[in-house]
Amino acid sequence: MCGIIGKVGVGNVFPELLNGLKNLEYRGYDSAGVAGIIDNKIIRFRQEGRISNLEAEVEKASPESFIGIGHTRWATHGSPTKDNAHPHISTNGKFAIVHNGIIENSDELKKSFLEGKIQLSSRTDTEIVVQLMGLFYKGDVISAISEACKALTGSFALGILCEDTPNILYAVGQSSPLLVVKGKSGNYIASDFCAVGEGTDEVYRLTDGEICALTEGSIRFFNPSGAPIEKFPEKAEFSCVAFDKGNYEHFMLKEIFEQPKAVKDTINSFLKENEIVFPNVKLYDNFIKEKLEKIVIVACGSAYHAGLVGKSVLESLCKISCSVEIASEFRYSQSFINEKTLAVFISQSGETADTLAALRLAKKKGAKTLSIVNVTGSAIAEESESVIYTKAGREVAVATTKAYSAQLASLYALAIFMGGIRAAIDTERYKRLVEELRFLPEKIKRRITTLAPQMEELSKDIYKKRDVFFIGRLNDFATAAEGSLKMKEISYINSQSYPAGELKHGTISLIEEGTVVVAVAGKSKVFSKTASNISEVQARGARVILITDESEKDCKVTAEITVTVPETLKEFQSSLLVLPLQLLSYYTAKLRGCDIDKPKNLAKSVTVE
Ligand code: F6R
Repeated sequence: MCGIIGKVGVGNVFPELLNGLKNLEYRGYDSAGVAGIIDNKIIRFRQEGRISNLEAEVEKASPESFIGIGHTRWATHGSPTKDNAHPHISTNGKFAIVHNGIIENSDELKKSFLEGKIQLSSRTDTEIVVQLMGLFYKGDVISAISEACKALTGSFALGILCEDTPNILYAVGQSSPLLVVKGKSGNYIASDFCAVGEGTDEVYRLTDGEICALTEGSIRFFNPSGAPIEKFPEKAEFSCVAFDKGNYEHFMLKEIFEQPKAVKDTINSFLKENEIVFPNVKLYDNFIKEKLEKIVIVACGSAYHAGLVGKSVLESLCKISCSVEIASEFRYSQSFINEKTLAVFISQSGETADTLAALRLAKKKGAKTLSIVNVTGSAIAEESESVIYTKAGREVAVATTKAYSAQLASLYALAIFMGGIRAAIDTERYKRLVEELRFLPEKIKRRITTLAPQMEELSKDIYKKRDVFFIGRLNDFATAAEGSLKMKEISYINSQSYPAGELKHGTISLIEEGTVVVAVAGKSKVFSKTASNISEVQARGARVILITDESEKDCKVTAEITVTVPETLKEFQSSLLVLPLQLLSYYTAKLRGCDIDKPKNLAKSVTVE
């Protein structure tokens, strides 16, 4: 994770670096730092915590440099202290670097090259890299960078300054995202285009250990051995929307309320008349109809939960076996996939390291790959054969809401699309599904406003609890799992989710007088089964909050509290049932005084495994 930025150009870079870092804070917010070169000497500022802490320190010192690098950290090696904050400087004072990624062989490198020679000042893997550069430097910076990077195993995007070449900013990109951007007032490196404050039409992506040297007016590229190479700007369109909370207290709440639009824009992007058409999906009818033997969905976190919903919709509408795998497990397991498999990768950021590695593995095994991604031009989108872009727009809150809803909508559409081709659904059913899909944003919109005050009230009953349980069956279990993740992620209340029928195999021993159990049970063939599980926990003193749809509101379940959402087809219910859970987590976290948009220990984009 971590975000890096660098600039060489006209004027003082520090204000720009700090602004850029604010736009990168979603990548980690444990500590931050910047460095520049003043009078041929490297100068550095670092602070624990948010960019605002660093900003105060830099403003006080008011340094001026036309070259600089900056970093916002999500700690991997070493705790989030000032000593471990980037930039790191070599003991000989020659090099300063910022790093995103993980050096897997840092301990071995320390033993082979540094022990007995250099006293380290941090516990980071990054310091090993800068010390190697200092050690290998004999007057040629590119050679020192190349030699040091050749020794590294792992992923690294680096921004580098060398005191002896105060007009040149260096960068390296190996399996961690790093863009080189030609700007109007100089040249930049950045983990994300949004960190660069000015318009440009020339953007390059550093890959496979490529090295770059930037001055105010030139950009040169080198291969990992240090030989010059030519590189061409990317065609992908890079754009950035300003972050603005509007009248909302938090981005998360704003994004919850943006869900009708996110789902509508997503659906509209592939609904042509009454047909589903995916412009970037290269799946031929005969593959879907005759060759395809199974679907594997791979993702992490909430995207994995979207995958669980997708599985049951795909199986129901396409009559094909589908499994859902956690990306970090899939990449190291026996994955029985081949050219008759469709591997679907779900990722909001399009950068999640495990999902990306799983995608590469699936390609190697010959599977057809399709990704459902929110960020245009991201690595997962670029490397997949086919892409469905969710149109949720930029999601700022670390806890996903609108991108999750857009993922669900995309999975429904994919299932209808493939079900139609496989003739697993007839024309009438296809039409009915499309019609209902079109109505979904309106149903979300209609209920979300009235749900908010109701869930705010309910959160008063929950926010002091130590534990909350979420249960459901089939699709409703996926929704319960998502609700539980949201709750623990932002409110830090210990919450657990279980398939409702599984409780009595152990977990029910935790239920006691007053334990809150949120039961998700939309209209389905297993409703009465979940109802029995609700009675079982109530018999042991649980207070049950039932989340169901309007058609089941008069059911025989006597939950302490019942929250309903509008009716829809059973395939699409998760999109509505998840809404109260998102809002409940939000208001509970708010009452607990949590930092809702930036929960502790997390980052929006998980680019390390
Ligand atoms: C939870 C959340 C995470 C992400 C997960 C995958 O609210 O946002 O669990 O869903 O880290 O991230 P992406 O979708 O970017 O691959």
